[in-house]
Amino acid sequence: MRTLIKGGTVLSPTGGVLADVLVQDEQVAAVTAPGVFDTADTVLDATGKYVLPGGIDAHTHMEMPFGGTFSADTFETGTTAAAWGGTTTIIDFAVQAKGTSLVSTLDKWHEKADGNCAVDYGFHMIVSDVNDATLKEMETCIDSGVTSFKMFMAYPGVFYSTDGEILRAMQKARETGSTIMMHAENGIAIDELVAQALASGKGEPVQHGLTRPSALEGEATSRAITLAQVTGAPLYIVHLSAAEALSAVAEARDSGQHVFAETCPQYLYLSIDDLAKPGFEGAKYVASPPLREKRHQADLWRGLRTNDLSVVSTDHCPFCFKDQKELGRGDFSKIPNGMPGVEHRMDLLHQGVVAGEISLGRWVEACSTTPARMFGLYPRKGVIAPGSDADIVIYDPAARQTLSAETHHMNVDYSAYEGFEITGKVETVLSRGKVVVSPSGFSGGTGHGRFLSREKCQYLN
Ligand code: URP
Ligand code: ZN
Ligand code: ZN
Ligand code: ZN
Repeated sequence: MRTLIKGGTVLSPTGGVLADVLVQDEQVAAVTAPGVFDTADTVLDATGKYVLPGGIDAHTHMEMPFGGTFSADTFETGTTAAAWGGTTTIIDFAVQAKGTSLVSTLDKWHEKADGNCAVDYGFHMIVSDVNDATLKEMETCIDSGVTSFKMFMAYPGVFYSTDGEILRAMQKARETGSTIMMHAENGIAIDELVAQALASGKGEPVQHGLTRPSALEGEATSRAITLAQVTGAPLYIVHLSAAEALSAVAEARDSGQHVFAETCPQYLYLSIDDLAKPGFEGAKYVASPPLREKRHQADLWRGLRTNDLSVVSTDHCPFCFKDQKELGRGDFSKIPNGMPGVEHRMDLLHQGVVAGEISLGRWVEACSTTPARMFGLYPRKGVIAPGSDADIVIYDPAARQTLSAETHHMNVDYSAYEGFEITGKVETVLSRGKVVVSPSGFSGGTGHGRFLSREKCQYLN
């Protein structure tokens, strides 16, 4: 089965070239000068369009248990929405509950995901119970293709780890060449501020932002970097939102430390003004770290250009406004943390290209190529080259669309980007050679997506 994508501009981190792409079964067979091949079983005309490697969203939470409920997208609905938005790989998080093992956690997440995904998927492991057995099990996880471990300096009593526990896990990461991913917010200090706000009768959503000041993200980021330096572990800061945290990452990188960071579209486009919307509307924007003052956004765009921010992921963790965000009406600390976004990352970052904030090459690099290398999927994913999986997006840079909950495919009753006018639109998506999205609709199927056993980080020399 051969598919020929003709006439498009093929994108990579170095920019675009006019080229044709020949797909044989599940893989890219050739990238040629235009016109070298002219027949195939299927010919897709990409004239005037971009042809880019499928997006890789390295940070999603499908059906994640949180605050007494579950994030609203299942692996089926969430990966289908991802496909619609040009994302052909997700890396989701298996969540170790305290008192349980990493291996049983991984089994559980395979049960949820296997056979239910529309696109390929991998897992990171959230470590919330550090002990001798857990540390030993990190090796089993790595052998099972889970080579990155997320830890939390926030959420005391739930996912939180002490500095000592983090140090021990980092020692294990150093020993095994695996990566520690850090949710860097000072949760101990934050919990005091939250208790004080609630005690003085301040329960509205904006308090979520006011009680999690950016300095406490900066402090935790610096502390995580110091622990990584002491142990020699590679460190990846997740969902970086604050200028102070970015400065700490930039300084560590300039000193040669293996420190990496991602940001998310919500921190580039939304702000604490959204959290402060009247009534309970702000609950739609409650996620941690919180949306920041607008002044942080220019720093984040700069970080994307300088590579101090190497990856854009979504932290997709949707909770419905009507019945889930509602759990925290009157007490912001009970609003489930997280926002929907897996469907819109490619489009939103393309606006950065349109606005001149980042180059076309940087768009592809931050949304596909770097996440592939960061999490051990390259060159199978993240590039259009002979032998790579044919995960390919045909993107129309001139199309116009308006984002809305009315038209999105995520299983959540609101859009954080309602009414956003977007230049550019996904036209066709191939996942391992199969057309899963086209102008005539979704033609994929749950069960098409396969589990990706990952190598270690490919930036460690
Ligand atoms: O608010 C968020 N980000 N929810 C998802 C869990 C996490 O911390 O990434
Ligand atoms: Zn987090
Ligand atoms: Zn630098
Ligand atoms: Zn997350």
